[in-house]
Amino acid sequence: MKDEITNLRAQVVAQIEASSDLAEIENIRANYLGKNGKLTKLVKRINEVPKEEKKEVGLLINETKNTILAILSQQKNDLKETSRIWFDPTIPGKKPQTGSLHLMTQAIEEVANIFTKIGFVRMRYPEVEWDYFAFEALNFDHDHPARDEWETFFVDASAHPKLGKMLLTPHTSNGQVREMLRVKTPPVRMINIAKCYRRQSDASHYPMFHQFEGLVVDEGISIAHLKGTVDYFMTAFYGEDRQARLRPYNFPFTEPSFEIDISCDICSGRGCKVCKEGWLELGGAGMVHPNVLRHGGIDPVKYSGFAFGWGVERVMMMKPGLGINDLRTIYSTDLRYLKQF
Ligand code: DAH
Repeated sequence: MKDEITNLRAQVVAQIEASSDLAEIENIRANYLGKNGKLTKLVKRINEVPKEEKKEVGLLINETKNTILAILSQQKNDLKETSRIWFDPTIPGKKPQTGSLHLMTQAIEEVANIFTKIGFVRMRYPEVEWDYFAFEALNFDHDHPARDEWETFFVDASAHPKLGKMLLTPHTSNGQVREMLRVKTPPVRMINIAKCYRRQSDASHYPMFHQFEGLVVDEGISIAHLKGTVDYFMTAFYGEDRQARLRPYNFPFTEPSFEIDISCDICSGRGCKVCKEGWLELGGAGMVHPNVLRHGGIDPVKYSGFAFGWGVERVMMMKPGLGINDLRTIYSTDLRYLKQF
């Protein structure tokens, strides 16, 4: 009899736990505790139990009955509670979190749109690159500072027999020769937007950042085309009131070379933590060096080209009204900050 009671108890507990509505609970109660219920029947058979065990069996029956009643009522309450929450139409709904594009994704789309509108082809070239495309083919001297470890992240992998060391590309200029080799015959009109990596970190530098690289190669391309493209971008991206200036500079892969500056929006040209002198350097530009054209399989006598490479974060920071005065905050994971954009 004791075994019967224990089995019965295990059965009823399992049934109650599996029950999903109040009617089912009532059924279970009647099945076990009702007039003809299974436990009630066991109670009626108490006479079969030997005298010396009667007390023990009686206690077990009582305890079982109480347990069943307790979990029945617990389950009833739980079901009432869930059905109440489920059907209560007055409880305000939970708003799902809506995601949004990161500021940099928006900036990349905007830059890409501006250039694709005037016939540039959007490209993306490797972030993990060979020395050849990042430096060698771009006419860098072997002892150029960017080639040593202070500026560039080198990958701990064996060097390619022809293309040299593996590295994280420090600029999007790696796409220049790759694009010329892809297109083969000019015109080349590329806008390469990708991540770049350098060993640097301060208010206007971050170890991972983005650049957009323009490259145009065709017959008769001159500085006038470069200037016109820079002016077009400034107007399209910033509006009419920002100033741009071309400053003579030096890059191994362009001749002549320029640095393009834009008047700083944060301090309106007075000088601040970000720009220092009122102008923010957007990046370089110039006329593609004949050696670079040659590496791209293009005849420098017949064709000429211009190129530019600017930081996406930088051009974005110079947008009026954004008030980003530390580039590093763009990569913060604080949603309160990111949601503003
Ligand atoms: N690659 C240069 C840098 O990261 C920027 C640059 C300068 C790109 C001149 C160009 C260029 O295409 O013509 O500093």
